[in-house]
Amino acid sequence: MKSLVQQLQTLFRRALIEILGDAGRDADPMIRAAGDERFGDYQSNVAMGLAKMLQTKPRDLAQRIVAALPQETNDLCEPMEIAGPGFINIRLRADRLAEMLEAVPPTTAPDRLGIEPGERPHKVVVDYSGPNIAKQMHVGHLRSTIIGDTIARMLEYVGHEVVRQNHIGDWGTQFGMLCAFLKDKMPEALSAPETVHLEDLEDFYRQASARDKEDPAFHEQARAEVVALHNHEPSTLRAWQYIVDESRRHYMPIYRRLGVSLTPADERGESFYAERLSEVVDEFRERFGTESPAARIVVRPDQGALCIFHLTAEGEPRFKNPEDQPLPMIIRKSDGAFLYATTDLAALRFRIRDLGARQVIYVTDARQALHFEMLFATAEAASWTTANDGVQLDHVTFGSILGEDRKPLKTRSGENIKLADLLDEAVRRAEQLIRAGEADETKRRGFNEEQIKDIAEAVGIGAVKYADLSQNRQSDYVFSWDKMLAMEGNTAPYMMYAYARIRSIYRKGAETIGEKRDGKIVLDESAERLLARQILRFPETIEAAVAGLKINLLTDYLYALGGVFMKFYESCPVLKADTPERKASRLRLCELTARTLRIGLDLLGILVVERM
Ligand code: ARG
Repeated sequence: MKSLVQQLQTLFRRALIEILGDAGRDADPMIRAAGDERFGDYQSNVAMGLAKMLQTKPRDLAQRIVAALPQETNDLCEPMEIAGPGFINIRLRADRLAEMLEAVPPTTAPDRLGIEPGERPHKVVVDYSGPNIAKQMHVGHLRSTIIGDTIARMLEYVGHEVVRQNHIGDWGTQFGMLCAFLKDKMPEALSAPETVHLEDLEDFYRQASARDKEDPAFHEQARAEVVALHNHEPSTLRAWQYIVDESRRHYMPIYRRLGVSLTPADERGESFYAERLSEVVDEFRERFGTESPAARIVVRPDQGALCIFHLTAEGEPRFKNPEDQPLPMIIRKSDGAFLYATTDLAALRFRIRDLGARQVIYVTDARQALHFEMLFATAEAASWTTANDGVQLDHVTFGSILGEDRKPLKTRSGENIKLADLLDEAVRRAEQLIRAGEADETKRRGFNEEQIKDIAEAVGIGAVKYADLSQNRQSDYVFSWDKMLAMEGNTAPYMMYAYARIRSIYRKGAETIGEKRDGKIVLDESAERLLARQILRFPETIEAAVAGLKINLLTDYLYALGGVFMKFYESCPVLKADTPERKASRLRLCELTARTLRIGLDLLGILVVERM
């Protein structure tokens, strides 16, 4: 099955080809969901823009387009209506909506709801999470991790081949002091790494760095360790490996708990590129070391550092610092050290040349916007982006999480909140709410201890994730326990409860309808028709969310689905429907609604529970 929008686009495009000839092939039929159901389900706004070009009246052109629509249009739509200056209002036929839903195959794994994969699947690298080794993950990493994971899942869902890359910060001069400190304080970590653990990474890092500042002899050792690490000195490499492994021991359980699909196999940290940095730098120096009028970058030393300067088409500096001076991308410092930017150049080259990516998506906070703008400009200037039939580069940015005081979320004492602590608290609060419900005679569900724990885990973690993913990612948002755990509104508990409730209705009814389970769907009531339409809008929602890399389109859709279902349930008796056929049809709508909710929440990495 193709999405409703795609089906309409195909029909309208044929009309446009009829009118415009070949030029119609690339014309956008501008199919949009109608704002008000009284005007139909969709509208095409194409006549307005096109009329100007063809120098005719939009309404006349709209008439011509409607007349040129192919015969099959009548199978899908009621007769078109032309409104206002030239909108074409489209109403879908209820019997077609019913047929499309009837054609949805039974649940498979993965459940695609009968949606065909996209037409042009490609290989896409999604770079997300990227925790820094030897540091505790804090709330700042939460957004990259969950936004990136959802984007990866959605891309896979529409049929792309996704390569997850966890660009962990596992290299750099700080490892000198960490290795020196480890060798000194915990020599057993080198000989028997399994027997000792770093329980508090942050603390270990802090101690090492304090020692580095206070103790000149230690500082010398730390510097020697940096050199030893670069030379792959076995004992230093062992110390480094131990620190990396210990860090992984901290973040893997957090991924698992968050329902994030990253595995150690997705790690390709900064250390992976360490050996490739000089090669990349050489490539740029050789190709762009001398100024050439055609090139949009020039590579030259500046105050001892090797820099890439970007130029506009007019030969002006493309990036400038606040003092209005040209701002270069530094790729090698005066002491010979490479930088974050150098590693990202090597990584991007690897992703395009070795992994064969046609799209690379980076998920980091907005503060890295300039870094990625420069990286992308460099890749373009070096023609990397013309490989593999064209490579698209995207920086998916996001705002900060704020406390109720509207300042970046911190603990009372002003420290970064550890992600693990935050998740514990979420689950604790969810558990409290469930227990309060159980203590109330009117609400009691009779859950046992194990059920309470399971539901609390799903609801607590789900609430934190959903509160984040349902935002327009570019904005900052205020972290509020009360809001995210509320049973009303666009929240995880609301969505999960809607799912559990619909499932329970279905279970009750399914027992009584037997054979009719896969029977006909009838959409006589307007609430039934609107529910069917909303379910069938799932594919186009995912398409739009993927195209714009906007997850909140999915959460908005799910919330709307919950609302449309509630209206349906209020006005259309399901278990007490007047005929067995109607009951079977409505139960099937319940089942399809629940499935759509589950698939949607699954794309967000949020678990559903059958009872709540
Ligand atoms: N480790 C980095 C940080 O914490 C994130 C890495 C993002 N990915 C990249 N290719 N630069 O800021």
